[in-house]
Amino acid sequence: MKLPKLRIGNLIARIPIIQGGMGVGISLSGLASAVANEGGIGVISGTAVGFREPDFRLHYRASSIKGLKEEIRKAREYSPDGIIGLNLLSAMTNFAELAKAAVEEGIDIIFAGAGLPMRLPEVTKGTDTKAVPIVSSARAAVLICKNWDNKYSVVPDAIVVEGPLAGGHLGYSAKQLDNIDDIDVEDIALDVKKNLVPFEQKYDKHIPVVVAGGIYDGNDIARVLAKGLDGVQMATRFVATDECDADERFKMAYVNAKKEDIIYIQSPVGLVGRAIRNKFLDDVAMGIKKPIRCQYNCLKTCDPKASPYCIADALLNARQGDLDNGFAFAGANVYRIDRIVSVKELINELVESAEAALDEMAKLIESNTV
Ligand SMILES: Cc1cc2nc3c(=O)[nH]c(=O)nc-3n(C[C@H](O)[C@H](O)[C@H](O)COP(=O)(O)O)c2cc1C
Repeated sequence: MKLPKLRIGNLIARIPIIQGGMGVGISLSGLASAVANEGGIGVISGTAVGFREPDFRLHYRASSIKGLKEEIRKAREYSPDGIIGLNLLSAMTNFAELAKAAVEEGIDIIFAGAGLPMRLPEVTKGTDTKAVPIVSSARAAVLICKNWDNKYSVVPDAIVVEGPLAGGHLGYSAKQLDNIDDIDVEDIALDVKKNLVPFEQKYDKHIPVVVAGGIYDGNDIARVLAKGLDGVQMATRFVATDECDADERFKMAYVNAKKEDIIYIQSPVGLVGRAIRNKFLDDVAMGIKKPIRCQYNCLKTCDPKASPYCIADALLNARQGDLDNGFAFAGANVYRIDRIVSVKELINELVESAEAALDEMAKLIESNTV
């Protein structure tokens, strides 16, 4: 059975796979355009996206806008017909100006995570850019819908529901994560879907629900689709690709990671994150790192006086391959990765195995009904 397409408003992705945005500098134009060229949705990370600009440290905000426009233009050049999105963290101090710059560049979709993007429609309403919040609960999805409906007379164009197996910052408290087995992202996504019905009726539009966090292979994709959900967002697997924008050493940290290396950290962003343990994180845990002087003022939620390190610099160092002075965020399934492949190879494998799994499910249903 052919995989269904993923429709977000007038945008139609040939395959229902979104490559999750990965900061800092892990998913830029290289990865995003490769995914878009294979029929998925490629996503550029907007976090500290101006890091290649010569005056990045001196003029963080201006160089972020410049860097972002450059990445969007490159992605369009490499994938003229593909769907390209931008990922922004609601906690970023320059969220609104980056969103505005992206809309001006004609970005197809803005995905907004790490907080509730209550004001995103101020930038996207009336434009061709789709607005897609990333949430971890039905409560958050409903809050956003009610707020957007009341204030802007719009609702999201899709919703990504991110579960606790995701990489990077998580929308769950340490306490909730103590009982991680009790949290099923697909159940939460179904709950979100149910709660969206009144908004879909009011606006006479379908709001696709996409599942993120721990989706690893074709069976996972088939299971999500068979439940009536619209697609998946995957990130960890896309790191171990030739086209991922991070240094080879970052990718090899994925290939070499073992199950016991995957840990939770308390990030300066104020959220729990999932990462691959290394000496840098061990030093942080032992209190060896000292509070830093902030150069960027990049996050509303970071208190530099209390933070043992600068998360922007740590993630930038890691993406350049300097894992002595940084660390790699990763999803819970990273230990299953054993090689680096091309995006084409990965997507072909995912699509073929998901289609085979859907066929198997259809056969099973048929034999049970005969
Ligand atoms: C290295 C890394 C960096 C990430 N950075 C971001 C980010 O900047 N913004 C965001 O919304 N999500 C971020 N994520 C989450 C992903 O976009 C995605 O939703 C999630 O990791 C999906 O789970 P998976 O990695 O198990 O496929 C990151 C994930 C990874 C692995």
